[in-house]
Order: sequence, then C-alpha cells, then structure tokens
Amino acid sequence: MKLPRSYYNWTSFIGSLIVVIALTLIVFLFIISTIFDQGGSYLGLFIYMALPALMIVGLILIPIGMLINLRNNATEEGYKKRKKPTIDLNDPRHQNAFVIFVISSLVFLFLTSIGSYEAFHYTESVAFCGTLCHKVMDPEYVTYQHSAHANVACVECHVGAGASWYVKSKVSGLYQVYSVLFDKYPRPIETPVQDLRPARETCEKCHWPEKFYARKLRVQKNFLADENNTEWDIVMQMKTGPLYSALGLKEGSHWHINKDVKIEYISSDNSRESIPWVRFTNLRTGESTIYIDEENPLDDSLMATLPVRAMDCIDCHNRPSHAYKSPPDYIDNALISGSISKDIPQIKYIAMDALKDPFTNKDTAFMYIDSVVTTFYQSDYPEYYAENQEKIAKAVAGIQEAYSLNAFPYMRVTYVDYPDHIGHLETNGCFRCHSDLHVSESGKTISKDCNLCHTIIAQGIPGEMMVTNVFDTLEFQHPVQLRNDVWKVAFCSECHKNLFQ
Ligand code: HEC
Ligand code: HEC
Ligand code: HEC
Ligand code: HEC
Ligand code: HEC
Ligand code: HEC
Repeated sequence: MKLPRSYYNWTSFIGSLIVVIALTLIVFLFIISTIFDQGGSYLGLFIYMALPALMIVGLILIPIGMLINLRNNATEEGYKKRKKPTIDLNDPRHQNAFVIFVISSLVFLFLTSIGSYEAFHYTESVAFCGTLCHKVMDPEYVTYQHSAHANVACVECHVGAGASWYVKSKVSGLYQVYSVLFDKYPRPIETPVQDLRPARETCEKCHWPEKFYARKLRVQKNFLADENNTEWDIVMQMKTGPLYSALGLKEGSHWHINKDVKIEYISSDNSRESIPWVRFTNLRTGESTIYIDEENPLDDSLMATLPVRAMDCIDCHNRPSHAYKSPPDYIDNALISGSISKDIPQIKYIAMDALKDPFTNKDTAFMYIDSVVTTFYQSDYPEYYAENQEKIAKAVAGIQEAYSLNAFPYMRVTYVDYPDHIGHLETNGCFRCHSDLHVSESGKTISKDCNLCHTIIAQGIPGEMMVTNVFDTLEFQHPVQLRNDVWKVAFCSECHKNLFQ
C-alpha cells in the first residue's frame, strides 16, 4: 500500500513507531491492570498519563515530518505557488492516507473518550491520592483506612463536586508533584488546611444539618498506669442533639449548626488553637453577643488584621478521617481489644514509658519499644518474665502496631502536631471557647458546665461503679485523686497534653 510521498521521511516514521509502541503498551498495561489486577496505582500513571502523552507526541511528529518533507522537496517556485498541500482523492496514495487518517482519528477519539473518563476516575481514586507518593500521604492514608470514612473517597471531602474545584485541585496537585519530586514539602503538612472546600459543599452532601442525630451513649474504658492496670470506665450520654427529635437543633452540640445560629471567631494564630474573640449572632432576631477571653484579650490593631472565620463542621470535627490518637488512648484500645494482655502487671505504665520520647524513624521506635519493655520485665519481674515470655513478646508487638497506626515519624506527625478539636482532654478543643473565661459585656460566659455537652451515667471501677439513669447525671470523679479537685478549675489539657512526659 502506497502513501503520499511526503510521508516517507524519518520524522514521520519515528512518530508512527512511537504511536504504535505507546498504543501497544497502553493496551497491554490496561489488560494487566484491569483483568489481572496487577501493578497498583503506579501503572495508572503510565496508562492514563505518560503513555497517552507520548502517543500524542508521536501523532504530532507525523504531520510535522510530512510538512518538512514537502517543503524541502518543493522547488522554490512550486512551493511558492502551492503554499498549502492539496488532497486529491483520485490519487490512490492520497486515498490511502485519507482512509487511514479518518479511521485512526475515529479510533483515537474513541480511545481518548474512554481514556479521559478513566483518567478522571484514576486521578480521583483513593489509591491515586493515598498511595502514589506513599511516604508523604502515609499518615493520612493509614488513619483514613481506620476511620468511619474508610469507604468515602478522599476527593469527596477534599475536592467535592463541580469542574472548578476539580481543576483547582489538579492545578494545586501539579505544585504538589513538584514539591514531592524536589523534596520541598513541609513535614508535617501544615494544618488547618487553608483552602479546604467549605463543609457546606462536602460534609453536608452526606450529613445535612437538618438531619437529627439522637443522643449517643459513649462507653469508655480507661486503664491507669499502676501495678494492676486498674480499669476505670466512664459511660456518658453525648448531647449531640436534644432529647426529642421534634426539637430539631434547639439544643445540644449541633445547636451550632442550626440555621438561625451564626458563630464567628478570630484566632490569634493560624492554628485555630487559641480563640480570644467569639461572636454569636441569632440570625432570626439579628441580636449578637461578643465574648472576649479575659485572660488573653487581643489588641485592637492586631485584631483588625486577622480573618474572621465562621464556624462550621470542621471547627469541631477537624479529624473526621485522620485522627491521630495519643499513646494513653491507643494503648487503652489495644488493652481492650486484647492485642496487649491487660493481665501483665504494669504494662500500661511501661508502654507509656517506652512511648514518651518522639522517635525519628519507625525502626528505631520499634527497637526501642522492644528493648524498654523486655528489659523492664527481665529486671523487675524476672520470674514472671520467664513464665510469660510469649505474652510479653505479643504485648511488644501490640504496642508497636498501635504506635505505627498513630504516629508517623517520617512526616513528623503525632496527635500533638494534629490536635483533635472534638472533646477537651489532650487539647482544649471545645474549651477553646467553652472556658468560662470568654465573657460578654453583660457578663455572660461561654459555659464550661460539665453537663452542657454530656451527662455522666456511670463511672468507676467495674464491679463498684457509681450509676444513675439517662435523665440524671453524676458529678465527674477524676479517676485518680487530684489535689483540691483541681480539674474543676484547670483545663484538662494542662496535665493531659503530656501526661507521661
Ligand atoms: C470525611 C472527609 C475526609 C476524607 C474522606 C479524607 N479527608 Fe483528608 N482531611 C479532611 C479534613 C476535614 C482535613 C482538615 C484538617 C484540618 O484542616 O485541620 C483533612 C486534612 C488532610 C490533609 C492535611 C494533613 C492532615 O493530616 O490534616 C491531608 C494531606 C489529607 N487530608 C489527605 C487525605 C487523603 C490522601 C485522603 C484519602 C486517602 C483523605 N484525606 C480523605 C477530611 C477528609
Ligand atoms: C460521601 C459521603 C460522606 C461525606 C462527604 C462525609 N461523610 Fe461523614 N460519614 C459518612 C458515612 C457513610 C459515615 C459512617 C456512618 C455510620 O457509621 O453509620 C460517616 C460518619 C461520620 C461521623 C461519625 C464518626 C464516627 O466515628 O462514628 C462524623 C463525625 C462525620 N461523618 C463527619 C463528617 C465530616 C465533618 C465531613 C466533612 C469533612 C464528612 N463527614 C463527610 C459519609 C460521609
Ligand atoms: C460545636 C461542635 C460541633 C459542630 C460545629 C458539629 N458537630 Fe457533629 N458532633 C459534635 C459532637 C460533640 C458530637 C458527638 C461526638 C461523640 O459522640 O463523641 C457530634 C456527632 C456527629 C456525628 C455522629 C452522630 C452520631 O450520633 O453517630 C456526625 C455524623 C456529625 N456530628 C456530623 C456533623 C456535621 C456534618 C457537621 C456540620 C454540618 C457537624 N457535625 C457540626 C459536635 C459538633
Ligand atoms: C468558636 C467558639 C466555640 C467552640 C469552639 C465551641 N463552642 Fe459551643 N458554643 C459557643 C457559643 C458562643 C455558644 C452559645 C453561648 C451562649 O450564648 O449561650 C455555645 C453553646 C454550646 C452549647 C449549648 C447549646 C444550647 O443552647 O443547648 C453546646 C451544647 C455546645 N456549645 C457544645 C460545644 C461542643 C461539644 C464543642 C466542641 C466540640 C463546642 N461547643 C465548641 C461557642 C463555641
Ligand atoms: C462544650 C462541651 C463540653 C463541656 C462543657 C465539657 N465536655 Fe467533656 N467532653 C465533650 C466532648 C465533645 C467529649 C467527647 C470527646 C470524644 O468524642 O472523643 C467529652 C469527653 C469527656 C470525657 C471523656 C474523656 C476522654 O477520655 O476522651 C470526660 C471524662 C469528660 N468529657 C468530662 C468533662 C468534665 C468533667 C467537664 C466539666 C469540667 C466537661 N467534660 C465539660 C464536651 C464537653
Ligand atoms: C492536675 C493534673 C490533671 C488534671 C487537671 C486532669 N487530669 Fe485526668 N489524669 C491525671 C493523671 C495523673 C491521671 C492518671 C493517669 C494514669 O495513671 O493512667 C489522669 C487520668 C485521667 C483519666 C483516666 C485515664 C486516661 O488517661 O484516660 C481520665 C478519663 C481523666 N484523667 C479525665 C480528666 C478530665 C476530663 C479532666 C478535666 C476535666 C482531667 N482529667 C484533668 C491528671 C490530671
């Protein structure tokens, strides 16, 4: 089969060769990845991005070669006369080229539409976001997999619907690729994420504010760091909403997202940890109240420069998908699940001791945990150790595993770097505003009353628990006696931020 003479040149040959090779590879890799499910997320990078780009380069080379060829072979005069190439379908060479061009264009368009559909899905996939630059996204990906949102794609929260956010995310993605390739990214990645899409357009697609969340019973087991790992349980009724669903968002924690309520605040630093100024506006009456933190007020000139943020879901639920637990918390969970045996004397204590220093990498952390725990039992409990070596080895593995799901030394991420704002134990969370120190002009405060957000139904050591019913509440009793019941005035975080350091 003959083609137009201009086609016979090296540039067009090489172009065609590139097209054929790229297309073959695309088909081959596509079969491997879809039918045999091999290759992981990297393969997608080739199938949907690198190889199609290469193929387009090849396709462009073909006409370029032809044009150069035409130009070189045309006599000076002839070239001037016939500036544009002519297509003559009576010439069999032209006819062949035309047929090939039309058919391959159709095939190409067809493949492009499938390809771009697949490329869209691929770049929106959890594997793409979570595993492609695995070291960087490791903390988020690991915590995500253990969250309530493990089946919600990253992009549902981070991109959301609509073309403009898609484009925005891909543009910022290009910068991220650059910063990963040239090691320019910050460790840990800075939070709060400043350009996170507003919760209204993401979270509220699945959890709309009008949806009533009943009060929830929260049953919690704690283990103290003493000889017997004494168990201390707390059963609380969380007042997410009011007691009766008919009351809607009239009270409870989700009162904040009532359509008639607008709460704005100014944070004195970018982290949103310290909130000296709060304004509550009743949108129905238009009345507003400003609360100022008496202990650290903002000076007016500084205040004018700081942004005012309207509170939404993220101001309480800032870790819906990436919750980094603290050592006391994740070790308690491991003791509950049994991956660490709670019969081993002082196991909570020694685990806390082994985990108190920040580590620079996972391997040293694992070795250190092993050596601290094992040496402790060898020297302090030699007989127990001799009889329970296996149990202790299993506990060591349990501590290591719990650690690796919650601390990520490579990215310098722990619960301290990414504080959780729901609650008030290790960071101030709700107490950033609910401090009893934020006062309005008329003397009203944002309350720290222990029964405002939850009631305590039962607490104590199993077998000798204090109990009441869901309509009543117990006064909180701190699990270990604190001098002057200091928890009543101090913030819990003053001690709990680094309880074992
Ligand atoms: C349920 C919603 C949700 C899902 C699903 C989700 N994220 Fe997030 N993510 C958030 C929120 C909210 C923040 C903001 C935290 C802040 O600003 O303090 C965040 C923060 C981040 C951060 C900044 C660092 C950090 O840990 O706070 C990264 C990186 C991240 N997410 C990546 C991912 C990846 C990768 C996935 C999928 C594997 C994912 N996210 C899935 C809601 C989500
Ligand atoms: C694509 C839908 C979807 C989106 C978007 C989404 N969620 Fe969820 N969310 C879920 C599902 C599904 C669950 C699990 C429900 C269950 O366990 O019954 C859940 C559970 C939760 C829970 C309860 C967690 C727990 O431990 O039980 C909270 C809190 C929550 N989501 C907050 C958020 C916030 C905040 C955002 C926005 C950053 C968000 N969600 C975005 C679907 C979504
Ligand atoms: C003032 C803080 C605050 C705000 C703002 C807030 N929540 Fe919550 N939310 C809570 C608390 C507290 C709970 C109960 C937590 C618990 O049980 O430990 C909760 C519980 C939930 C749950 C789980 C309900 C259940 O019973 O399983 C979901 C889902 C949820 N919130 C979604 C949202 C969404 C979506 C938004 C934004 C539209 C939002 N929340 C705004 C504080 C808040
Ligand atoms: C940015 C400041 C701020 C933060 C953070 C905050 N709140 Fe509030 N909260 C307020 C204000 C202001 C009020 C209304 C005080 C008033 O005028 O009575 C309020 C009221 C409440 C009420 C009483 C609602 C009613 O009338 O029944 C509950 C319950 C509540 N908050 C729970 C929480 C919980 C739980 C958290 C943490 C997850 C939290 N809040 C975090 C500012 C905040
Ligand atoms: C503004 C709302 C609010 C107020 C006021 C408040 N709490 Fe809480 N508290 C919470 C929330 C929300 C959680 C649940 C955190 C979570 O889901 O992890 C919590 C959790 C707890 C827990 C369980 C701790 C744990 O291990 O996570 C205890 C105990 C507790 N609160 C005691 C108190 C006491 C005592 C007071 C009074 C000094 C108080 N709370 C005042 C909102 C509040
Ligand atoms: C003066 C310091 C101090 C203050 C303030 C304080 N705690 Fe504690 N808390 C401790 C110590 C010490 C322990 C014992 C830890 C252990 O042995 O495991 C403890 C243990 C606990 C435990 C059980 C074990 C655990 O680690 O979860 C809970 C629950 C608890 N505290 C809740 C609170 C709450 C809620 C507040 C605030 C209302 C608070 N604490 C304020 C010092 C303090």
